[in-house]
This record gives sequence, structure tokens and C-alpha cells, in this order.
Amino acid sequence: MNLSLNNFKFVFEYIVNMKSKEVRKRFFDFFASKNHTFQKSSSIVIKDDPTLLFVNAGMNQFKNIFLDYEKPTFLRVMNSQKCLRVSGKHNDLEEVGHDTYHHTMFEMLGNWSFGDYFKKDAIHLAWDFLTKELGVPKDRLYVSFFKGDDDDKLKADDETKIIWNKIVDADKVVEGNKKDNFWEMGPIGPCGPSTEIHIDLRTDSEREKISGRDLINQDHPQLIEIWNIVFIEFNRKENGTLDLLPKKHVDTGMGFERLCMLLQNKKSTYDTDIFSNLIARISSISKINYGSSKEHDVAIRVIVDHIRAITFCIADGQLPSNTGAGYVIRRILRRAVRYGYTYLNLKNPFLYLLVSEISTQFEDVFPEIKREQEVIQNIIKEEENSFLKTLGKGLALIQKLIENNSNNSSEINGKRVFELYDTYGFPPDLTALILKEKGLLYNQEEFKKSMLEQKNRSRTASEVIVGDWVDLSTVGIEGFVGYDDTRIVNVSIVKYRKCQFKGDCQFHLVFNKTPFYPEGGGQVGDSGQILLRASKNNQKSINILDTKKENNLIIHITTDLPNKGKDLKDLLCTLQVDTQKRRLTSRNHSATHLLHHVLRLMLGNHVEQKGSYVCADYLRFDFSHFQKIDKNEILKLENKINAFIVKGIALQDFRSLPIAEAKDMGALALFGEKYGDNVRVVKFGDSVELCGGTHVLNTSEIGFVKIKSESSVASGVRRIEAVSSAGAIQFANAQMATLEHVNTLLKSSVNVTGLVKKMLDENKALNELAKEAKKHKSHLLLESLIQKVDIVNNHRLFFDTLDVDVASMKDICFSLINKYDNAVVALVTIQNKKAILNIALSKKLLKTKEMDASVIINQVGPHINARGGGQSFFAVASGDNIKGLENLFLNLKERFTNL
Ligand code: SER
Repeated sequence: MNLSLNNFKFVFEYIVNMKSKEVRKRFFDFFASKNHTFQKSSSIVIKDDPTLLFVNAGMNQFKNIFLDYEKPTFLRVMNSQKCLRVSGKHNDLEEVGHDTYHHTMFEMLGNWSFGDYFKKDAIHLAWDFLTKELGVPKDRLYVSFFKGDDDDKLKADDETKIIWNKIVDADKVVEGNKKDNFWEMGPIGPCGPSTEIHIDLRTDSEREKISGRDLINQDHPQLIEIWNIVFIEFNRKENGTLDLLPKKHVDTGMGFERLCMLLQNKKSTYDTDIFSNLIARISSISKINYGSSKEHDVAIRVIVDHIRAITFCIADGQLPSNTGAGYVIRRILRRAVRYGYTYLNLKNPFLYLLVSEISTQFEDVFPEIKREQEVIQNIIKEEENSFLKTLGKGLALIQKLIENNSNNSSEINGKRVFELYDTYGFPPDLTALILKEKGLLYNQEEFKKSMLEQKNRSRTASEVIVGDWVDLSTVGIEGFVGYDDTRIVNVSIVKYRKCQFKGDCQFHLVFNKTPFYPEGGGQVGDSGQILLRASKNNQKSINILDTKKENNLIIHITTDLPNKGKDLKDLLCTLQVDTQKRRLTSRNHSATHLLHHVLRLMLGNHVEQKGSYVCADYLRFDFSHFQKIDKNEILKLENKINAFIVKGIALQDFRSLPIAEAKDMGALALFGEKYGDNVRVVKFGDSVELCGGTHVLNTSEIGFVKIKSESSVASGVRRIEAVSSAGAIQFANAQMATLEHVNTLLKSSVNVTGLVKKMLDENKALNELAKEAKKHKSHLLLESLIQKVDIVNNHRLFFDTLDVDVASMKDICFSLINKYDNAVVALVTIQNKKAILNIALSKKLLKTKEMDASVIINQVGPHINARGGGQSFFAVASGDNIKGLENLFLNLKERFTNL
């Protein structure tokens, strides 16, 4: 199907070949002229929503506005959102590469109305942009409306139908079902009916044969959806019902890559300028041209798609790992490596070479990629290297599977293939391919069963089932007020919900204000108590196990509801934070800031925070740096931090500063983190950071910091683990205790290192002596066996029980069969009440007499309850019936007497 340029020539003349940058600009200029304000894309990785790992639609960052938890700053906005659809409700991974227009990572252009304009304006804006601003031919566009749904008791969206009927011919308006025309972000949350705009890119003759109406939403590569306009009216609840939202909103999403394909008159999004440089680069690396075969093309499409997803996610702070979002990135990366390995013959890391292309291309829209380019490249290269190692191991294992497939069936056990996948990250389709070359396949049912079993295991271990919120009051939520106070009285519950966590019942409570710090910025959430007056002199308490943030709500996790859930509306309670845990955590958090500051002073400004974890017991800090920090430097680092502590620097806490002012102060920000217009700045002398965490009032409170370890997390990312205050004292005390113990054992506390060194030297010398003695003993035993030899029928029989270790016995066996060409050796050593039997035969006997030690050992083994195995010249068995040894030797001798 060749879509020639001529098709559109007369109508499309002035827009054909509009570059992608120009397309984006046109969109923003158009909506700016309609009073929309530009809003930056949010990070593609979601950090505070347990129901989603990645942004899968432009609306994610506006969820709170739709739900009325947050007031919008502007009523009309526009954006280009980085999205990833690889898991959950919206998952396009399997289509990617095989068709010509699906992507894992894509850009979504959107215009938004927050309680402002609705259906009529939204539809007209979209239509005008496409047809008037861009000149897309009207007769190629189809539109759809929601036909209603009985289960949800929703009527057809006639309002939308009527609006469209006034704009386009009736035959261009089609009805659509819930799947296509009712948008939901996930299983719960804001949603509503939608109208989609589709474009028919087929040739005229094809269009004459089949009407475009009949191909809408049929996965036709040339009749595709380009714009989805959603009328957000409802909130889907946990029990499946739909609640009306306080206001009606508009959420539109236009696939940027598809729009470019249309405007550049291409058959595939991969043929647009968004992908052309990337494709050229991978073609030059692999020396395989795009278009040379179907297999090559699929592999190239998969690779150029996946590398974008990987790059954008790492730039937004998500490193590949074994769990959650990190595992999704790792899987995508391995998929890409596998396609390169199998179809493009790329046996060395290659993906990381594509990052510079992406970084240049998106420099002006998503500058974070250029900023992080070196780190991204290093991380990808390291991941590729490690998977390429596993690929090799996996291949060796498949080889073994093939060799051991002794039952001559053409089918390999699916469980083994699953193990390869699970343990070595080895994709089953690659395993299948290699098996096929050997005329084998694997049992897919067994594979699926193992996969399902594992999924069920991990699901029950981690799943949180979240119930609907029960709203108790509409008072405004003040949120966190716990920087200064750890106890607050007269607090009311605004809402709560019931949850299941790993099968246990829990409650999530939101208060109108709280002193509890919610997990965030690396710092763990507070725990503590809800205190309730039970009677005049009595108080009851409920434990708050943890505090987390979900979107903008601070959630307190408990195992009970106050008052067993009765009269919660009017209940006033006292919230008390566990001050000991808070204090220790704050010290570790401030220590982390000092560490960060000193690292930059000592190593340079390339040091950037890549992750952190701060709890009461210790702190962990990941940062960009390219080499190991040696012991001396660690000591210097520690000394410098402790010097800051001793100086007793007071905290300067700027609770709310305009972001520009904070940046002028030199405040360090985290990459991938979303900051509001006003931010909090935490300053200890020259250490200045944007941070929401809790801190000490003076560095002297930290006491002292001890670095416990320095290691590598990924290429270009180092990790330091340290302890402070009580943790540091505990750590130092434990080290002292160990030293004390050593002193006691050595019966000295003077020159301990000298003594230990002396002992190690002596130990080494004694080991040498022991080795020599063992050698000598073996030699003597060998000599005595040779003396005692029993010659039967021209065979030299060396049968005996020796007091030696297993390795020496094996050496003696080998010496005998190498020395004589008619030696039959049966030697036994007793270890742990078991007789270990070695049978060895001279090579000549194997040839001339067709003897086999591994057969003989199993014939005589039953005398000592042994079964064993090995090779034809040497076999081993062990059994617990030591008394049977005499008969074993007799039986063996008889065999040679009666030959
Ligand atoms: N939320 C809708 C979508 O993602 C429109 O933006 O398709």
C-alpha cells in the first residue's frame, strides 16, 4: 500500500512535510490565542500515586483538580505530556514494532478546561485547529460519540452527536462503545464520555471500495485515531459506581507522533522526522538498512521506540531495577537488547549510543535529557552489558536443556523455560527461537502455569486493595503543620477509607491538619498515635503505623478506626508523633544534606543526588560520580562533615520562597522532581537545598557521622551508607566490642594488629607444612598399596580402606591408573560415618575389556547402600553401611577371578 504524496497534494500543499518542531509550535500558538496557558509536562515517572507507576495520559497531573482536591491556577491550559503505556489498563507494548503506529513512550498534546468551557467549545476548537489551522482535509476525518452503556446506566451522548452533526456530514459521525468512547485513567478515578477524531489516510480507490466508517477502531494502519476529547464528569468509585464531579472539565489528548505522520504524509509514525535520525543511527551501527526485511524492520522499530521510553524514564529519575517501575524499564531494555542481538546481530552494547540523538532532538522541549545525558548513557550501557552476560549464560543453559533432553521428546519442559526467563531475564520467545533451530519447542501451558503461580505469589505479597473514601467533612485541609509541633490537639477527620494490605485490614485517615510527616523526599513517614479521650481521666490510643502522601492528601495508616468508626464526624482527637523516631530521622536527614554538600565540595559539581533514603537508623545517599571513592577520601569526607557538625551551624528554614529566589540562593534541586511556584529551602551555612523534610535546628544535634560503606549502584551512580547520632554511637560501640573480643582472645590489648598479622603469617606457614605432610602421607600410602598389590588374572587389584581426605584419595586413584595399564582401583575413606568409594580403571581396560567404572560402582555399591556415578574411568559413590565393605571387596575380586 503506497500512499503517494499526490493524494493530498492539492489540499495539503502548504503543510506537507511540516517538521515536528513546527507542529508542536502551531498547537501551542493556536491554543495560546484561545487564552490557554502553557503547563510543563510532568515527570513521566509517578512518585506519589500507588495506583499508577507511569504517566499514561496527559490528565494524570490534573487528577486532583478534577476531583476538586486542588484549585486550578488557570482555567485553560495546554501541554505536551510525556506518556508511557506499558502496563495496567493502557498497555500498548505488544503492538509496538509489529505495527507502524503504536509506541510505548509518546507525546500527548492536550488542551484543558477546568470547569470552564465544555463540549461545544472543545469540539469546535479541535475541529478548527485541524481543518483551519493545519488544513487537514475535512472529508478524511471521522468523529465518534459515546453510544451509552446499560451497565453504567449511561445514556448516549446526544449532545456531542448534535454538535458534530452541525459541523460534518452525518455519515462521518459514528457511535462508539464504552471501550472506545468512555475514557478512564485507571480502575478508579475521574472519567467521562469522549469523542474521538479519526483520519482516513487510504488511497482514493481504497476509500471508494470500503467506507472509512466501517474501519474505525478496527486497527487499520491507515485509519487511525488522532485526537481524543474527553468530557470529564464522573468519578469511578471502588465499587464500580459513578459519582458526578462538582464541575465538568475537558481533557483532550492528541497523539503527537500520529499528527506528525499525517502532516508529513507518511505511512507510519516511524517514517516521520521524530524517528528518522534514530533509525539512521541504528542502521549505521548494525549495518542493516531499514526496509531491508520485515524482521529487520520490526527489530529496528522496537529498538527506536524502546530507547526513547528508557531514556525519558531515566532522565526523570527512574533507574532500572528488579521491582516496580524500575523493573518495567529493565524489561523494556532487555526486550530491545534481545531484538538487536537476535535480528540485527548486535552482540555488544548499542542502545546507549542512541541517547545522544534523542538528547539533541528534544533539547528545547525536554532539556532534562541533555542535562542527564552522560548519566543516562552510562546506566544504559551498564544494563546492556549485564544482560548481554546473562544472554550468554542463558544460551549455555538452553544448550544444556537440549543435550539433557534424553527422553527424545521434541518438547522441553515449560517450567525450565520459565526459570530461564525468571532467573536469567531470558525472554521466552528467544528461548523458543533457539529451540526451534534444533527442531524443539517448549510446553507453553507449563510456562504459563509457572508464570501465573509466580504472579499470584507476588500479588498476594504486595497488593493493596483500596476502598472508596468516606467523606466526613468539607472543611479545608491545612495539611502538614509538623515542622514545629509534634503534637496537635482538636484535630478532626476529614475522610477515611478501608484497605487490605497483604491480606490485613487497614484504614487510611486524612485529618484537617497533621503534625505527621508523610514519606517523601527520601525521608520515611512518621509513626505515632491518635489520642482519644475515653472518659474524664482516661485516654485511648490508636497507633499510626506510617504516613504517606497520595496526590495531595496526607494519609495516616492505622489498623483501627477511632471509636470503632462511630460518630467520627464530630470527633476531635490529639495527634502525637513518635518523637524519638522523628528526632533520629531528622538528624539523619540533616546529615544527608551535609554529606551532599561536602561531596560536591570535594569531588565537584557533577555530583547530583540520584536517590536517598533517610530513616531513624541510617541514611543512604545515591549520587552521580564515576569512580570509587577510596578509603582516604572517605575519611576526609567524614572529617569535613563532622567539622560542620562541630561548628554548630543553625538551620535557616525558608518555608515558602518563590522558586526563582530559591534558585538565586543556589539551592540544589532534584532532577525529575516537580516543584511548585513556591518552595521550601533548607540552609545550613553553605549547604542550601530545596527540601520538604524535617531537620535539626542546629548541626550540633547530629552529634557525629560515620560512613559505613561506599559502593556502586549502577554505572556512574555511587552509594554511601552512613549513620549519625545514636546510630553512629551504636555502630562505634559495636566495633569497639568486636575489638574487645579480639583483645580477650589474644590476651592482649597492645599491638593487636601486629599480633594478628603475626598469627596470620604463622597460620600460612603451618598450612604449607600441613600440605607437605599430606602429600608425604599420600606418597607413603601409594607406595604401600603398590607393595600389597593383588594380581588376579593379569589385573592389578588395589583394594583398600584409607585414612585420607577425599581429594588425596582421588589423587592416589589417578596415580595408580596412570602408572599401570591394568590397574583396577577400589579405595574407600570413611567420612562422617559414611563410606566414600572411588573406583578407577586404567584407560586400556576400558578399551580392551569394555569395562566401565560407573557401571561397576552401581553393581557393587548396594553392599554399602550406595548409588553413584561418574565417568567410565572414574566413579564415586557413598553409602552408610560400612560393615558391607568386606563383601564389596570380595565381590569385586570374584569378578576378576572368574573373568
Ligand atoms: N485522557 C485522554 C487520553 O489519554 C485524553 O487526553 O486519551
